[in-house]
Formats: sequence, structure tokens, C-alpha cells
Amino acid sequence: MTTVTNETLANLSREERRFEPPAELAAAANVTADAYDHAAKDPAAFWGEQAERLTWAERWSTVLDDSNPPFYKWFTGGKLNASYNCVDRHVEAGLGDKVALHWVGEPVADTRDITYAQLKDEVSQAANALTALGVEAGDRVAIYMPMIPEAIVAMLACARIGAPHTVVFGGFSADALASRIDDCQAKVVITSDGGYRRGAPSALKPAVDEALTKTDVVHKVLVVRRTGQEVAWNDDVDVWWHDVVDTASTEHTPEAFDAEHPLYVMYTSGTTGKPKGILHTTGGYLVGTSYTHHAVFDLKPGSADEKGDVYWCTADIGWVTGHSYIVYGPLANGATQVLYEGTPDSPERGRWWEIIEQYGVTIFYTAPTAIRSFMKQGRAIPDQRDMSSVRILGSVGEPINPEAYVWYRQVIGGDRAPVVDTWWQTETGMIMISPLPGVTAGKPGSAMKALPGVSVDVVDDEGTPVPNGSGGYLVVTAPWPSMLRTLWGDDDRYRDTYWSRFKKQGYYFAGDGAKKDEDGDIWVLGRVDDVMNVSGHRLSTTEIESALVSHPKVAEAAVVGAKDEDTGQAVCAFVILREEAGDGGDDIVQELRQHVRKEIGPIATPRQILVVAELPKTRSGKIMRRLLRDVAENREVGDVTTLADGSVMDLISKGMSASSED
Ligand code: WT7
Repeated sequence: MTTVTNETLANLSREERRFEPPAELAAAANVTADAYDHAAKDPAAFWGEQAERLTWAERWSTVLDDSNPPFYKWFTGGKLNASYNCVDRHVEAGLGDKVALHWVGEPVADTRDITYAQLKDEVSQAANALTALGVEAGDRVAIYMPMIPEAIVAMLACARIGAPHTVVFGGFSADALASRIDDCQAKVVITSDGGYRRGAPSALKPAVDEALTKTDVVHKVLVVRRTGQEVAWNDDVDVWWHDVVDTASTEHTPEAFDAEHPLYVMYTSGTTGKPKGILHTTGGYLVGTSYTHHAVFDLKPGSADEKGDVYWCTADIGWVTGHSYIVYGPLANGATQVLYEGTPDSPERGRWWEIIEQYGVTIFYTAPTAIRSFMKQGRAIPDQRDMSSVRILGSVGEPINPEAYVWYRQVIGGDRAPVVDTWWQTETGMIMISPLPGVTAGKPGSAMKALPGVSVDVVDDEGTPVPNGSGGYLVVTAPWPSMLRTLWGDDDRYRDTYWSRFKKQGYYFAGDGAKKDEDGDIWVLGRVDDVMNVSGHRLSTTEIESALVSHPKVAEAAVVGAKDEDTGQAVCAFVILREEAGDGGDDIVQELRQHVRKEIGPIATPRQILVVAELPKTRSGKIMRRLLRDVAENREVGDVTTLADGSVMDLISKGMSASSED
């Protein structure tokens, strides 16, 4: 574990504030304290009970099949349709007129309310259209879209016909899109001409066109017209959504698929350059996301004549949070939610708070990086709005600093709404560690404890649980229903990455460091591997290094994540130029930053690039990123005794202090 960790440990243990659950919330909570013991007695039976939340075409015979670890199977023998569970069954229950989505476009007048009945029609039309385009159960479909209702319709339409989707974040570049399309061999891409970002239309289709020059697996591209921008058109491949979806029949009978039928593949960074295709399947994933959404956010969906909660998760559907807590969990629970297309500061910095006031949002779920940026702008902006509707606040993506937690609670939550700090991962599919808002006395900065039915621990190098008051590695000690099933096409990497770190069989290694405090509550401290967390998004150092090295002027690159006040961590790069590039020219830093943007996307753009003559390496040639991190974080450089050339770090440190911040 890094030295940062020890420092963080010391700081955190000084935190003594506690926030009891509001009495009214506790009295009516969806899940109460007894759930923990009840679930612990027989976790499989507990998850079997939770599975009753869904509508199954055929009941399962076994809740958990653990005969071939780590290839666990859940609800074997069961059959269901995810789209039916998220849409049709609510309509059949008489909730067709209930709003599923309050969609808010970035241009202020651009809004659309979509009821469950309308959603059912649109999803059915899209399912019919995809079938007509030749998509069959098992075929993969890539989705590269802005935050518009059609993105959700597209995901549900894929699920409806059993075609696993892979949603690629709209901020990723053409290259990143192409490699994901290629890895899972997506036959169709669903996209749009563009979306609105920061007050202006921002194009998407050109990146798809470019991606298609790098891979030849795609037969059709289905394009939503959102901005009306000019788009290049290839009649053999491109199809307008309004031509084939809007004209399709609204009748579609969903087929029931096996509980273990693949639902989607989501790519996430690993410690090697190649992103990992996390595979989630149908039954267990829906059980896990719907139960945790019900438990952690205490959602009261309301009924045909009684208004329930208005839920808003600000994540992009391109990340797992959007999958689990915008699409599958909330819709399976019949929630009414806000879906917002744009950025928080468009057209002005109070846009989010205006939306909360306007729609009476009661449950709000966002990321620490956003909270910190609002903190910086000051409370005068949110204070202009009436946010008294808010009753629960969620946080996800990285550790939330105690100060940000308290600010969030006081300013956005009116000092009433509890904050739930939810720890989970793309791989876990569902929230694993979190307070329960009607049960837990929250501690600012702590995710507290595992949810009912989930078992985690903090262990040392040998896999032995650490005592309270100490730190170690976070592990999940028993399978859970929405766990990843494998890495797309790579069972070995799945086993090696997640299940081989500790000798004890059945320990899932999350890659995070954590601490158990004196009460046994958990404080997640961040990644222990070569993976960074920038604004709640996971990026791999190797991936960015590979991008830098693909530039003709770069010989070698080392990337580290350095602490950043706004984004949690920021990308810092150290590069050695090729001899023929000389000093690279005046604009070398800008040129390289542009290059990374193009290769991976704006989110990976280095905050800082330092051109160096040498990189610190061990005798075996391994780059010592720990030392570079010291430099990037302005710390005294740690132990250099294993360096092949001890003077290298002096030069780098000097270069660092000479370079300007940007
Ligand atoms: C990594 C997973 C889960 C959706 C968003 C990110 C970090 C996530 C917390 C939290 C401390 C957190 C961990 C984790 N993380 N939530 N509440 N407290 N750290 O998904 O890209 O799969 O990243 O995000 O380091 O391993 P992801």
C-alpha cells in the first residue's frame, strides 16, 4: 500500500461527527436493522426472497450454483425478460400513466415527460426495428449516445430481444469506440448525430464513422436525430432512427431468457492497456440492482394516484452507475426519475439545483468530484433554490472527503437528508457497502458496512482479516447476485485478476485499500493497483502510457495519478522524447495532451506533462511509479535505493519545480 494511505488513515480517524437517521425516515424505512441478521443466517435464502421482487416467466430451481468457482451462477433454471420487468409489468399493474422519465435537455426549453406506457411502446418499436435490422438474441450491439431518452430505450430494446449491449461513454474517442466494438464484435451501433454539451451541439456520429474505418464487424448504424447537425451518410450502413423505429409496430412480445443470459458488457480499465469487458447477466443482476436501489435509496415509487419519490442519478449511462441506478434498478422498481442531458453549469451554474426545485427531486445521487466543485463555487448558488423536497443524498465513485460530505448534507440536504456513501464497482454491478438511510448513524467519509446479504472484509497480505483499527485490502468473501460472471472472452484473466490474489478460495479482490475503524466500520481508501480514479472514472496508467507512446515523438512514458482537489486524482505524465524529435518543439506538451484526448478521450487528458531525460527504474527495468507519484504530489521523494540510477529522481524533481502547473 502507498504512503498516502497511512497519512489518510491518520486524518480519517480524527473524524468524530455522527448523523443519526431522521426519525420519520427510520419509522417508514424500506429496510430495517433486522435485515442484516436475517440475511446473514442464510444468504442464498435471503437473495431468493429478494428475487420475488421480479416477475419470472419460469421460477429458478437453485438460487446459487457454486459448484465451479469462480464461475458462479445465480437463479439457475429461472427465466425472465429484463425489459418486461423494467417496463411492461408496471403498465400491466395499472401504472401506465405514471411518469418514468422526466427528461431535461440541456437547452432550457427542451423537456419531455415519458410515461411507463409510452416507454413500453417505444421500447417495443425499437425492439422490432433492431430485429428487422438483423439483430438476434446473443448478438452484441454497441450504444454510443448522449443522455437522451432514446439511449435508455435502446438499452431496454436490446435487453428485450436478448442482444447484449455495450454502451460506450460518449466522451470516448473513435479509437476507444473501435476497440470496444471490435473486442465484443458488435454487429450494430446505435448513436445520434450529437448531443448538447456546455451550451452547444457536440457531434457523435463522426466518431462512429471514424471507428468504422478501423473495424469491419458493424453491419448497421442506427442514428437518432438530436441536434439536427449535418452528418456524413453511408446508405449501405446508416439508418435513421425516425425512419425505422418511429414507424415500427408498438406490439412486441418479450421472450423470456435464461437467468444467466448475458445482459451487457461494460468496458473498464485494468492494469494492462487492454480494457476489460465486464460481463453481467440477467437474473441475478436485476435482483441485486433492484434490491439495493430499494434498500439504499428507500424508494417509495408511489401508485397510480399517489405521487411517489422523484429520483435523480446524475451519472452518464456510459458508466456502470447509469446502467444499475438509472436504467435497471430504478426502472425495475417503477421509479419516476429525472434524466438530464447536459453539464451542471449550462446555461448557468445553478442548473442542477433549478432542476431539483422544478421537479421536486426527493432522492439525489451524484459523485464527490461534482460536490467538491460546487463547494468551491460557494453555497450562494444552491441557496437560491428551494430544495426542501430532498430527503436522501447518495455519493459514488471515490471516497468522499468528510468536508464534502458535511457540505453536501448541509447545503443540498438542508441538514436533514442523510448521505449514503455507496461503495461498489463496475464488476460488482450493485452497491455493496453503504449506510442504510433509515438505520445507520452516518460517519462522514465512511461507507460503513456491507449491505444485507453481502459479505466483505479487510485483510492483510496473507488474506487474514485485520483487527478493527487497521488497514488492508478490501475483499468480498461470498458471491453476490449481480457479480460479474467473467471478462468477455477471457476467463483466465477473470480468474487471475479477481480471484487469485489471496490463497483463500472464494475471496474476490476488489483492488481497493480500506480500513476498519474501532467500530468495525469501513473506510475505503482508493485503488492499490496502477489504476487511477479521475472524477469517479477509472483509468489505467498503462492505457494512457500506451496512448502517449503511440505518438511519433515519444519514446517512453510513465503515468501516475496525483491527488487533485477537484477531480480526486489527476493524470500526470512523464515522457521521454525520441532523439530525432529534439526538444519536441514549443508546443510539445499541448500536442501530447491533444493526442491523448484523441486516443482515449478528454477525461484522460493529462493535467501535467513533464518531458524528462530518464525515468526512475528498478534494476529489472520496472518503472517506479511510486517515486513519480511523490514528485507529482510535491512530496519528498521516498526510498530510492532500488533505483538503477539514483540521480534520476533529482533531475525529475528539479524539472517539476521548474515547470509551470499547466
Ligand atoms: C472504483 C470502481 C461504482 C460506480 C462508479 C465507479 C472507487 C467507487 C466508492 C466509494 C470509495 C469508491 C473504488 C472502486 N469507488 N465508489 N463510495 N468510496 N471509493 O465504478 O469505474 O468500476 O470504479 O471506484 O476505488 O474500486 P468503477
